[in-house]
Parts: sequence; structure tokens; C-alpha cells
Amino acid sequence: MAATIVDAEYLKEIEKSRRDLRALISSKNCAPIMLRLAWHDAGTYDATTKTGGPDGSIRNEIEYKHAANSGLTIAIDLCEEIKARHPKITYADLYQLAGVVAVEVTGGPTIGFVPGRKDSSSSPEEGRLPDAKQGPPHLRDVFYRMGLTDKDIVALSGGHTLGRAHPERSGFEGPWTKEPLKFDNSYFVELLKEDSEGLLKLPTDRALVEDPQFRPYVELYAKDEEVFFRDYAESHKKLSELGFTSP
Ligand code: HEM
Repeated sequence: MAATIVDAEYLKEIEKSRRDLRALISSKNCAPIMLRLAWHDAGTYDATTKTGGPDGSIRNEIEYKHAANSGLTIAIDLCEEIKARHPKITYADLYQLAGVVAVEVTGGPTIGFVPGRKDSSSSPEEGRLPDAKQGPPHLRDVFYRMGLTDKDIVALSGGHTLGRAHPERSGFEGPWTKEPLKFDNSYFVELLKEDSEGLLKLPTDRALVEDPQFRPYVELYAKDEEVFFRDYAESHKKLSELGFTSP
């Protein structure tokens, strides 16, 4: 992905957008859906064809109408408020910045953010994002296609420490943790419990405890939040920069 020009003025607008995003996300309690937006824009990346990725293409109607993106117009519309105030910022940068800020304002780790992503007006075909009803081989197919690893799969799944599933969007229901607006390691703690009453476990969440290569990371992150935060920040940065070479 070619980079857009990042000059001093662009950097200033990024910092202003960051502040506006902090205020918007805190006042609207919309951190979970902002994080999901950033992940779904980036998670279409295909390392072989170098298509998809964090290029703002999720704003195209053809893409936000993909079944996996159900509900995300809420986040896209909220980002328009920031875009209107800072029109120079690309959608690609804006959505990734929103994801980074969502994690920070809910108490998660600081994630490095490098601006300069270019927008794309073309969208990848439907079906690149993971299907929650499947198991470990499918998770590996999807994340390896992006160029990510087993460790990235487990660390990034920790994003489910925020938010909930909505029956009208995905057919699933409920939060993964007792405090869905707090970014911590409770997703992994709950995952290791046999019975987490009222909390959601998708088949792809269960896959992480059932697979012998994934499980050690779940146990590590449940035990040590500091290690989770360090690994999560690293994997999230990778996800946000798929196919992007900074200027
Ligand atoms: C929500 C699937 C990975 C962040 C959801 C929902 C599903 C899902 C079915 C519920 C959507 C709804 O009904 O509103 C998956 C699958 C994954 C995956 C199969 C494969 C590993 C990730 C990753 C992140 C993430 C990597 C971020 C790093 C979120 C967040 C929500 C969510 C924050 C809550 C959204 C809200 O509260 O509105 N995911 N997800 N997910 N996902 Fe994932």
C-alpha cells in the first residue's frame, strides 16, 4: 500500500483527531464498536495478493454490507464527525487511530500509531473475515493469510475483553466479560473457567483453549496481564499496519 504524504500539518491534525476521538469515545461509550471497526477494516488483508487491509475501504457500501460487518455503520457514522473536523486525515488512518484510542481510553496498553495509510475505493470480496462458528484450522487459515501468527491470534482475540454480541447483528448474544467497557485480561480468565454464567464464548473463543498451540498463550495471558498488554500492543500494531510501509 503506498503511503500518503505525512507532513507537519498532517501530524498536527492526527493529534487533534486523537483528542477528538478520546472525547467522542468516552462520551458515547463506543470503544467496543470502534475497535471492531478498526479490526474489520484491517482484517481483510491478503499477504499473497497484497489486497485488502487497513485502507478505509470498509466505508464503501459494498463492503459495510458484508454480513460480517453488520452494525458497523454506527462506528463509520461516528467517525464521520471526526472526518468533518479534520478532512485531511485519511479514513484508513482515522479508523486505525480510533481502534488505538478505544483500547487506551478503556484502560488498555498504549499502541504505537504511525500515520500515512492511503484510502482505497475498491473493496475485497466478501468472506475474508473469520466465521465465529468455526474452529482452529479456520482461524489459522484467516490469520495466516494476513501474515499473522498463533500468538497474534490469541493476543488479538483478547479484543473481546471489550463489548458484546448483538442477536440482530451476528446472531450471538452477550458480553465476554463482566466489565465490557474495561480493557483488561478478564477475557482469558473467563475463557479458562468451565462455567462463566451469562457470559459469551464463541466457538472461535473456545478454539483457543482447545488447541494445544493456542492454549499456553491463553493460560499465560490469564495469569499475567502485563504480558498480555505487551503482546496485545505488538499484535494490534501489526494488524493496523498490514500491507502498509510507513512513509
Ligand atoms: C464482536 C467474531 C476477532 C474485537 C464480535 C462479534 C462476533 C465476533 C461474532 C459480535 C458482533 C455483534 O453481534 O455485534 C470474531 C471472530 C474473531 C474475532 C470469529 C476471530 C478471532 C476479533 C479481534 C478483535 C475483535 C481480533 C479486535 C482486536 C471485537 C469487539 C467486539 C467484537 C471489540 C464487540 C463489538 C460491540 O460491542 O459492538 N466479534 N471476532 N474481534 N469483536 Fe470480534
